Amino acid sequence: MTKHPIAILISGRGSNMRSLIDACAQPDYPARIALVLSNRPDAPGLETAREAGLNTVAIDHRPFGKDRAAHERAVNAALRDAGVEIVCLAGYMRVLTPYLVHAWQGRMLNIHPSLLPAFPGLHTHAAAIAAGASTHGCTVHLVTDGVDEGPILGQADVPVLKDDSPDTLAARVLSQEHVLYPAVLAQFCETLDTHQ
Ligand code: GRF
Repeated sequence: MTKHPIAILISGRGSNMRSLIDACAQPDYPARIALVLSNRPDAPGLETAREAGLNTVAIDHRPFGKDRAAHERAVNAALRDAGVEIVCLAGYMRVLTPYLVHAWQGRMLNIHPSLLPAFPGLHTHAAAIAAGASTHGCTVHLVTDGVDEGPILGQADVPVLKDDSPDTLAARVLSQEHVLYPAVLAQFCETLDTHQ
């Protein structure tokens, strides 16, 4: 079985990264982690990745100022150097320019905490409650130029309960994210295998 080399891009705590680390540790899982990359050198998830013995790199966006493309060129070089085949965004809090999106077209996945196309952007849990949604959830999709707009690869539903706050709902969605992302990535790898 081919273990496809992936990169996980994070900006924060990295709980979805953790679920991918655990999945990749299984001998029969079709991916391995070639790189964990963060735009924030102080992201707690970087420490988790280091403790797991993974190859990590921080490419701070701040020294690049407004030059998003220059930051992305550095990110892209690190991805290529590590021999990455698939990029998994997992709480990577940067809006990407067409440069990076096109460089990884069809090979870059993102997890978003809503049932897209409902509630793109930030604060999805508060938005779902405010809209009176009875069902909420999470989506793994391919990344395209439009934010949170690419083809959907998988979704998981959770009910919105009467007494939910954005935090209680977020926690219920997050536990589904941790199941959905590894499952969709495995399926995605298998699709690559059948088309190679
Ligand atoms: C998750 O809710 C994910 O859906 C969103 O950002 C959050 C990242 O959380 N894109 P974590 O860093 O994986 O814990």
